[in-house]
Amino acid sequence: MRILGIETSCDETAAAVLDDGRLRSNVIASQTDLHHRYGGIVPELASRRHLETLLPVIEEALAGAGVTLPDIDAVAVTCGPGLVGALTVGVAAAKAIAFGLGVPLVGVNHLEGHIYANFLEHGPLPLPLVALIVSGAHSDLVLMHDHGRYDVLGRTRDDAAGEAFDKVARAMGLGYPGGPAIDRLARHGNDAAVPLPMPVVEGDRLDFSFSGIKTAVLRVLERQPAPTEAFLADLAAAFERVVVGALVEKTVRATRRHRPRALVLAGGVASNTRLRDEFARAAQELGLSHYRPSPVLCTDNAAMNAAAGEAALGRGRRDTLSLAAHA
Ligand code: KG4
Ligand code: ZN
Repeated sequence: MRILGIETSCDETAAAVLDDGRLRSNVIASQTDLHHRYGGIVPELASRRHLETLLPVIEEALAGAGVTLPDIDAVAVTCGPGLVGALTVGVAAAKAIAFGLGVPLVGVNHLEGHIYANFLEHGPLPLPLVALIVSGAHSDLVLMHDHGRYDVLGRTRDDAAGEAFDKVARAMGLGYPGGPAIDRLARHGNDAAVPLPMPVVEGDRLDFSFSGIKTAVLRVLERQPAPTEAFLADLAAAFERVVVGALVEKTVRATRRHRPRALVLAGGVASNTRLRDEFARAAQELGLSHYRPSPVLCTDNAAMNAAAGEAALGRGRRDTLSLAAHA
């Protein structure tokens, strides 16, 4: 089974070919250059760029895999959540290709796609597992009972983790996307030098809240009109300590409550150095096997959608040409 994966939910235009579970090509065209000067993603510009870039990206993915369109047996595409205009471009292309070739089409939930980056890279994983999915728009703790069977244990009540990274980076003058910039800067900082409040979330759910920490960082910056590089490094390190601390603490709590057989990290923020380290340490202390994708498979890509699509097709799932993008 040779699957063409497509990804256009946000600011990466991507296509990949998966051949019986083996990744043959993985092409990712980032739009960072386009959105950088706005300090964040401009949805309409993202859609237009997907429109220009998607077919060349698909052609490159096919060429990289040494195949042509008639060799494709199925098409898997992210249909949501994401920017609806951006998603529509990928969904329309996937439908056209599936219809033209007369092959199955399967819509993939973007967050499920992120989880499957781990199955793609590490093979069959012990189930049930708890997945921490942290991206630009989501911070979700998910209990995966089996393929296609999930319970959302917690999510963010305000900003997503990646969104907090991006907003804080922007306020620090580090540009977009902010996550990788803070990651690099924080390595040179002292995480105890700037006091920041730990997020508090009322109630029993395993929810997150990151808007308070973001505001606290903005207040610190207001009091430092001309921060030095060293101060910014300390602030970045302190911010990471708090955000990563909250993410790992809730993951540990979810594990104690639901007793999974494995822990999985996923989404763009899963490429964060400190989160990867602390997640691994927590899993070891709990005596649980844990999995993280390589950084290139953490941020948006189409290989993960092809992998999730392959599993869905294996369960007999098919979508019709009425498949729609949903925000
Ligand atoms: O999964 P993703 O590529 O797109 C969405 O589905 O949203 O995640 C993008 C997010 C951005 O907020 C970006 O700043 C963050 O992932 N990110 C990071 C790192 N690399 C990407 N955050 C922290 N540390 C990183 N190294
Ligand atoms: Zn994503």
